[in-house]
Amino acid sequence: MSADVSRRDLAKLAGLAALGAAAGAKAADNKAADNKAADNETPAPADRAAPFPKDFLWGTATSSYQIEGAVDEDGRGKSIWDIFSHTPGKIEDGSTGDRANEHYHRYKDDVALIKALGVKAYRFSIAWPRVFPDGSGQPNPKGLDFYNRLVDELLANGIEPYATLYHWDLPQALQDRVGGWQSSDTSKAFADYSAYIAARLTGVKTIFTVNEVGRFVNFGYGWGIDAPGLKLPAAQLNQARHHVALAHGLAVQAIRASGRAGTRVGAAENIAACVPAIVTPENIRAAEIATRELNAGFLGVVLEGKYTDGFLAYAGADAPKFTPDELRIIGTPNDFVGLNIYAPQYYVTASDRASGFRVLPFPTSFPHMNSEWLRVGPEVIYWAPRLAAKIWNIDTIYISENGTSSEDKISADGQVYDLDRIMFLRNYLTQMQRAIAEGVPIRGYFLWSLMDNFEWIYGYGKRFGLYRVDFETQARVPKLSAAFYRDVVMRNAIGV
Ligand code: NOJ
Repeated sequence: MSADVSRRDLAKLAGLAALGAAAGAKAADNKAADNKAADNETPAPADRAAPFPKDFLWGTATSSYQIEGAVDEDGRGKSIWDIFSHTPGKIEDGSTGDRANEHYHRYKDDVALIKALGVKAYRFSIAWPRVFPDGSGQPNPKGLDFYNRLVDELLANGIEPYATLYHWDLPQALQDRVGGWQSSDTSKAFADYSAYIAARLTGVKTIFTVNEVGRFVNFGYGWGIDAPGLKLPAAQLNQARHHVALAHGLAVQAIRASGRAGTRVGAAENIAACVPAIVTPENIRAAEIATRELNAGFLGVVLEGKYTDGFLAYAGADAPKFTPDELRIIGTPNDFVGLNIYAPQYYVTASDRASGFRVLPFPTSFPHMNSEWLRVGPEVIYWAPRLAAKIWNIDTIYISENGTSSEDKISADGQVYDLDRIMFLRNYLTQMQRAIAEGVPIRGYFLWSLMDNFEWIYGYGKRFGLYRVDFETQARVPKLSAAFYRDVVMRNAIGV
């Protein structure tokens, strides 16, 4: 789809949205009366939507294995997700990322889709096995070429590339050779790969090292749900997480040593998000303590350069083994913190227990979106950044992911009226704006996702995109939420 077509489509959808909004009001049916009505409906200044800060960065996000396809092209090596998704019974709909969105070949069209949204930034990830098919050693220049072509296309369209180095597609060769994240050899290989990218992908000024440690370590190495499908005991799991933290620290140093001056680096973490169940000073304090302790295994050690006493005591004999030198590397200062925020993970209250907090059970009736794990709690995007900024004294936060799956049925007129996604986004963005207004340093927001894609163990059954993708024809069609987001970005405000 060309940029023009998609812009037209979005404008059409925005028009429909405006019509919908007017329908309930005293709309007149001739043009002059319409204009008059519009005047009358101009909100009084006090009711006007507050704008976001002038330089607020609006973006959208994807990741390599979820969209690229072309898994056997131009010398790419296998990743743990290739092997895992081809293992019967692992992916709900039996699908793989072999073809996915064919983004490897359609990237120019996809950049046009990003541009049509009006956003200024795009977060994508680099497939490590495309660049180092064996995980380390001999690089594959053709793999890097693809990302240079993508970055050039983005820059030519006025879109700032935000690159993620690790969005779960570990080279299978490293898994086979050293047990993947079970070995610090993988941390070192990651540092070499990071240096290689930072030196050669020169159009990129902002790099996320690893994405969602809280997910891929536990689900991949602890519970056998994600690739590589291992169920390690607690001590080995904690050690694997430590190796990821070490990889992050080594990568920060490697990028600073090899990248262009001023290259910024940080991680994107699915922070264990804690919300005070009832907002009292005691419960806010409890949520703060809980946020620090429940994130001690990655964000905490990265931002403090040490594991908390609580974390070490809880892990006991299963605590990771580490040296002071490793902690110094892990604690190398970052330029920003990326937070992936979807759902409240814990509602907490104050407690007399030693920990100082109590986690409340979720009622089964707690509302969720089309993915069961995606509980609706817009206040989480207010509390998690607010508490993180306070605990770790962070001055730059990006919401590196936020968004929702939705059923996304095509209507008789060919459109996708994803009103549930719009409801979700409107409420989350309102809470994010509340945080910013109170001084929480959120500088940018990346909506997950640009387009429907391979949603890991759910295959193509869960759709997160602003654009609907027909995985047979590869046609991309903007959903109503694309028009909503474009409107927010254009106004730099939620509504008028
Ligand atoms: C977070 C992950 O980073 C991304 O890959 C995934 O698709 C979204 N959550 C939605 O589940």
